[in-house]
Amino acid sequence: MRLPLLNSRLAGMGTTIFAEMSALATATGAINLGQGFPDTDGPSEIAQAAADAILTGKGNQYPPGPGIPELRQAVAGHQKRFYGLDYDPDTEVLITAGATEAIAATLLALLEPGDEVIAFEPYYDSYAACIAMAGAARVPLTLRAPTFRPDLEALRDLVTSRTRVIMLNSPQNPTGMVLTADELAAIAELACERDLLVVTDEVYEHLVYDGTHIPIASLPGMRDRTVTISSGGKTFSFTGWKVGWVTAPPPLLSAVRTAKQFLTYVSSGPFQYATAKALELPDSYYTDLRDSHRRKRDLLATGLTEAGLHVYQPAGTYFITTDVSSLGESDGHAFCRALPQRCGVVAIPNVVFYDNTEVGRSQVRFAFCKNDEILAQAATRLKTLHRTA
Ligand SMILES: Cc1ncc(COP(=O)(O)O)c(C=O)c1O
Repeated sequence: MRLPLLNSRLAGMGTTIFAEMSALATATGAINLGQGFPDTDGPSEIAQAAADAILTGKGNQYPPGPGIPELRQAVAGHQKRFYGLDYDPDTEVLITAGATEAIAATLLALLEPGDEVIAFEPYYDSYAACIAMAGAARVPLTLRAPTFRPDLEALRDLVTSRTRVIMLNSPQNPTGMVLTADELAAIAELACERDLLVVTDEVYEHLVYDGTHIPIASLPGMRDRTVTISSGGKTFSFTGWKVGWVTAPPPLLSAVRTAKQFLTYVSSGPFQYATAKALELPDSYYTDLRDSHRRKRDLLATGLTEAGLHVYQPAGTYFITTDVSSLGESDGHAFCRALPQRCGVVAIPNVVFYDNTEVGRSQVRFAFCKNDEILAQAATRLKTLHRTA
C-alpha cells in the first residue's frame, strides 16, 4: 500500500481543533466555550415547523437539487429585506448543507490548481482545507491585535497574476472584526481593478454589536463578481440542521451548483421547510438575537478581564479573542490543553487559524453563545487561574 494514505494536499490537517477540544470537554466535564454552538435551541415554532414537515412528508425524500423553492424564495426575500439586494430565487440562489458545503463547492468550482486565494488570517479552518483540496494556494493577509483591521495596502501588494479570489469573512471568526464601509469599498475597488472574484462568508451577519453588516455584493461593481455565503445555523440557533445558501449571479451560481451536486447533491429536506419559515420571522426576532448576544458578550468580556485575560472586544460573531500573555502564558495551545484540568473550561487556541503562527501564539478564543448562568460559572472558574510567571 502506498503511504502516506492522506494525500499531500491535506497532509497536516488531521483532526479539527473543534473535535479535539470538544472531546476534551466531554472527557473532563468542563464548560465548553470552545466550539461555537448555542446551548439553547432556536424558536420553538421553528422546531415545530421541522417536526411538522417530517410528519407531513415534506422533504423526507430527496428535495430538488438547488433547494426547495420556498426556501430559495425566502433567501431572496431576506437579501432584499435586509440589504436591498435582488436575487432571482431560480437562477441566483442555491441551498447547501450549511455554509461549510457552500464554501467547499464554491472553492472547488472556481479554482484551478495553482490559483491563489487571498484570505484574512486567522481564518476559519475550512477555508485552508478547501483551498488545498482545490489544489490552489492560500495567501494570508495577517490581521493583527489589538484591532485586527486589514492592512489594505498590504492586501493590494499580495495580488499577483495568479490571484483568483479574495475570501472575506465579516463578521470575522475568530476575531469578531467587522469590515467597515471604507474597507469594503477599498476591497471592492481592488477586486474590480484586478478582475478578481470575491467569496464572502457572512454566517454571522445578524450578530453585529458595533457598526453594521454590509454585504460586499451591495457595493458598485461587486454583484457580478461576488459569491455570498450564509446559513441558518447561527442566526436561528439550530447549528445541527446544516441549512446554508449561496447567492450569486447566474454564471457564478451555476458553477457552484455543478460542484455542489457531487458533494451532498441535496440535504436537510424537512429542515429546509423550517428554515424558510425562520427567514420570515419578524425584525424583532433579529434585534432580540443581537441584543441578547451583545449582553452575553459583555458578560463574558467582564468575566475574562476579571480573570486576568487581555480581552479584544469583538464587534460581531459570538467569540471573544483574548491574549493569555497577561497571565504570564506564551503558548495558547498549551494553555487550552491544560485549561479543562486547571479550571474546568474549554477554549480554542487561535494559533491553529494562522499560517503565521508566531502572530497568534498567545491568543485564545472563547465562545459566548451560552446561557448566562454558564457564562457566569465559567468566569468564576477562570478567576481561579493564577499567573504562571
Ligand atoms: C466563519 C464560519 N463559516 C462557516 C461556518 C459553518 O457554518 P455551517 O454550520 O452553516 O456549515 C462557521 C461555523 O462555525 C463559521 O464560523
